[in-house]
Amino acid sequence: MATIFECDEVTKSYGGLMAVKEVSFSLERGEIFAIVGPNGAGKTTLFDTISGISLATGGKIRFNGQEIQNLRPDKICRLGISRTFQTTVAFDSQTVLTNVLVGSVLGRQGGSGNPTLGFRSEAVEAALDALEFCELLDKQGWLASSLSGFERKRLMLATALAAQPSLLLLDEPVGGLNRTERDEMTQFVRKINQAGITVLMIEHIMKVVQALANRMLVLHHGETIAEGPPAEVLRDERVVDVYLGGKRRERLAETGGGEG
Ligand SMILES: Nc1ncnc2c1ncn2[C@@H]1O[C@H](COP(=O)(O)OP(=O)(O)OP(=O)(O)O)[C@@H](O)[C@H]1O
Ligand SMILES: [Mg+2]
Repeated sequence: MATIFECDEVTKSYGGLMAVKEVSFSLERGEIFAIVGPNGAGKTTLFDTISGISLATGGKIRFNGQEIQNLRPDKICRLGISRTFQTTVAFDSQTVLTNVLVGSVLGRQGGSGNPTLGFRSEAVEAALDALEFCELLDKQGWLASSLSGFERKRLMLATALAAQPSLLLLDEPVGGLNRTERDEMTQFVRKINQAGITVLMIEHIMKVVQALANRMLVLHHGETIAEGPPAEVLRDERVVDVYLGGKRRERLAETGGGEG
């Protein structure tokens, strides 16, 4: 399989705090790769360096062989990497369609990168396709502020898809959703991947990770502590410690592992 993306010893410090420490991994084209880890592990910080929102303090990030660690976010988006955010963000005073057009105009169908002289028809088409995929076409004229939580989450997804990425970064795609919505979002991600888009996702809910990801990486205090297929990683002793804590582990030992 061909490598589409690579982090090579990526580091991000905020003053004295090393939020991400020499993290290395690569993605094969067409896979779904999950990044997990406790709160504050550095997951979102890693996404911020990949998407150009903040500059990595060390290491290299390569996309299709090209180094991107010093590029601006709009340039990275135009190359084919788009993302969603952990907090559901939208331009609330704008319509659903206008929100998604921001994605397609800044993305690969947007043309020159100077969207002031009107939208290319390809950009409008990409926006409408993304809205249809995310089942929001009938709400294209609504204000973003009037959408429900799940609809806002889908709006953010549609905006990222409208950029026509070949690599999509999802920061906690099912965060804040109920069980039914979570299942629906899982289906959306699966369909996106089946359409040929490589997915890198941050996710706390292991059921979702297991349902979607073929490989995963665990971050703890900014460092990789395990990487591999979910079935293996979730049995790793350090990972169990990080997630379940020492006490639960002791109880498991006492009860011979029979506890839920
Ligand atoms: N802009 C910033 N300035 C200073 N410190 C920051 C900044 N952004 C994040 N941090 C710190 O970096 C560390 C990693 O934060 P990050 O948001 O990447 O964690 P996370 O793994 O995404 O956690 P969560 O699961 O809660 O979303 C934390 O200690 C956080 O306080
Ligand atoms: Mg985060």
